[in-house]
Amino acid sequence: MSSFDLIIENGMVVTASDRFIASIGIRDGKIVQIGDKLEGADRVIDARGRYVMPGGIDSHVHISQPQGPGIEMADDFESGTLSALFGGNTTVLPFCLQERGQPLRETLKAYHDLAEGKCYTDVSFHLIINDPTDAVLGQDLPALIEDGYSSLKVFMTYEDLRLSDGEILKTLDVARKSGATVMIHCENEDAIRFLIDKHELEGNVAPRAHASTRSVAVEREATHRAISLAEIAEVPIVIVHVSNGEARDEITRARQRGLKITGETCPQYLTLTADDLEGMDWEGAKFVCSPPPRDEKEQEECWIGIENGTFDLFSSDHCPFRYNDERGKLNPKGKTNFRHIPNGIPGVEMRMPILFSKGVLTGRVEPERFVALTATNHAKTYGLYPQKGTIAIGSDADIAIWDPEVSRTVRHADLHDASDYTPYEGMEINGWPTTVVLGGKVVIDEGKLTGEKGQGQYRKAAARKVS
Ligand code: URP
Ligand code: ZN
Ligand code: ZN
Ligand code: ZN
Repeated sequence: MSSFDLIIENGMVVTASDRFIASIGIRDGKIVQIGDKLEGADRVIDARGRYVMPGGIDSHVHISQPQGPGIEMADDFESGTLSALFGGNTTVLPFCLQERGQPLRETLKAYHDLAEGKCYTDVSFHLIINDPTDAVLGQDLPALIEDGYSSLKVFMTYEDLRLSDGEILKTLDVARKSGATVMIHCENEDAIRFLIDKHELEGNVAPRAHASTRSVAVEREATHRAISLAEIAEVPIVIVHVSNGEARDEITRARQRGLKITGETCPQYLTLTADDLEGMDWEGAKFVCSPPPRDEKEQEECWIGIENGTFDLFSSDHCPFRYNDERGKLNPKGKTNFRHIPNGIPGVEMRMPILFSKGVLTGRVEPERFVALTATNHAKTYGLYPQKGTIAIGSDADIAIWDPEVSRTVRHADLHDASDYTPYEGMEINGWPTTVVLGGKVVIDEGKLTGEKGQGQYRKAAARKVS
């Protein structure tokens, strides 16, 4: 009998704090030894010249989440997690959207049923609190947090999702008492409504207007307010999908005041601009997300936030739709008025290759920081560390081996999501995760799928310690 099921040797092992050439010994799904030279395995992978990194954790993805009447997301748990896996991820954290009037246990059951037997990566859920009644906040939510569903998202925008400031405060109070982690989508809905009405009166209804009605001020104001609400409720929060320098600076200032605010940004804010929303017949619609991509100056501000540590999390906000066939089930009014275009773009497979290519290989982002931004900090923020997010003895053997020599031109035809386009079509990418190990099993082997549907497990997440 071999000592190990798998050895990965000669690679540059990278964690959030160190890099070193070593052999990793894996047995029964866990990392059991890290050493100079290990012997005796059923299989040995020679990772010479490659980076051996923790599998990515994408803590912001939308899968099978209804998006308004009749509008379905392109990805279910099968295609969404397959796409994630090919992008070097071994865990994703999708959202379970509470319908109005729905008990949270029912919400969770519905998403567990959708995910059961389908996943290629491990999965852990966030709850979206859409109906914070006394029963939900008083009983259901605390019980679920205790039971390992310890993160939730609240929205300050979207007519059918937004909570009032009072509702957000009450939700934050539950999080303070129970140790849940709250993600906040920061855009001022009343300001957006005002700007949409104004744009409509002027006949300005093309997709590009989506970006103008969700301006930097709209995001900055709500970011400031969310931080103030967290300060009042005395609880840490995560500001998700930050798109610009002004919102970023709200986080910086809050931290200087001693508040625990975590910032997240996404690849679209480093690479796309509002000009990508130009174009009718769904072409501009394919770049509609909230907050919208800005301009080159704000792209640079987001890079600075990545470099200076304001952003701890780099997530995809994968939220895929189909535009070119009837399976997309879009509201046809979206063709003539941007307010009916669903918000969200696909990106779970491209998240890490974009940051690796444009950050690590250009020297802007140290490999250790890449690991922190794409894996370790996600595990720490959402209660999965140290089982997930690092290469250490006792951690799950979730590993991505990155080949910096692989160069690819992005083509949607080569990706694995069920959307029908990628906003990154034609982008030149250097470096790719060519081999992926999930729970000790080689599930992508030199670019070929060797794993199977259903291999991913559900992972409960521990709440923060509360004093
Ligand atoms: O446009 C976006 N971001 N759609 C996904 C939902 C959200 O707000 O994260
Ligand atoms: Zn959001
Ligand atoms: Zn999102
Ligand atoms: Zn395609």
